[in-house]
Amino acid sequence: MGRILAIVSQKGGVGKTTTAVNLGAAFARRGLKTLVVDVDPQGSVRFGAGLRKGHPTHGFADYMSGARPLRDVILPTALPWLRVMLVGSVAEDADHTDYANTIAQGDLLPAMLATAAERCDIVVVDTPPGLGAITRRALASSDRVLVPLQAEPLVLQTTPQIFRGIQDIVAKQKRLTFDGILLTMYEAGNPACERTVKYVRANVPANLVFDLMIPRSSAVSDAFAAGQPVVVRTPADPAAQAYVNLATRLAERFVE
Ligand SMILES: Nc1ncnc2c1ncn2[C@@H]1O[C@H](COP(=O)(O)OP(=O)(O)OP(=O)(O)O)[C@@H](O)[C@H]1O
Ligand SMILES: [Mg+2]
Repeated sequence: MGRILAIVSQKGGVGKTTTAVNLGAAFARRGLKTLVVDVDPQGSVRFGAGLRKGHPTHGFADYMSGARPLRDVILPTALPWLRVMLVGSVAEDADHTDYANTIAQGDLLPAMLATAAERCDIVVVDTPPGLGAITRRALASSDRVLVPLQAEPLVLQTTPQIFRGIQDIVAKQKRLTFDGILLTMYEAGNPACERTVKYVRANVPANLVFDLMIPRSSAVSDAFAAGQPVVVRTPADPAAQAYVNLATRLAERFVE
């Protein structure tokens, strides 16, 4: 039976999708049968997960509406052990209210994740920004949650809320373990960035912030623009290596 890891953050643009696709690729490279699931109606996973050219664009929303069976929405990638479930046609819609309501009112999302976990070693779930209905339903059937936090000065105002919000959810769900905060887009030598990291480390218990940080690197966005995880496109890049090391640590925790 596999493990379900949700990537969650109250804030947008902090590296959730980047973390989901790169961890997914790094787990797959270790030989773990991995599925990356996109439940964010923005649908960004499709741009950076290394899907094959001309891949279908249907996904979870189309499975949920009954338009597609589950097997149709599990797509192969360039990596043999990595599969991806896109969010599907909802990504084309201007209004995501119906999609969010359907998830909020039913058990389709937790049920789908549970089924996926039976068939894979690891399921990585990319969620929309915020702790809204979609993210909460995803967390309801996840085993672990990882919170990317961009190493930038705004964090000084938002870290306490982010931390409390996640802890409230984890406290209510016995099965859920908080894996920790992952500092992303870290720039060594940038004083604002260094101050932020120092603040986070001083204010969050040490076992809840990863020592390892993801450096800011143009290879990450270049890879995304080329449709691939950086761990596949530029494996020697420091950000790629950081994701590979993170996957190693998480995989060790999963088998504990
Ligand atoms: N380590 C990094 N170095 C450089 N750029 C990065 C890095 N991580 C993420 N980015 C870039 O930052 C932007 C936001 O990243 P991403 O889309 O992963 O965030 P997100 O949290 O999923 O956003 P959203 O909340 O909109 O879903 C993207 O353009 C991505 O390429
Ligand atoms: Mg995203």
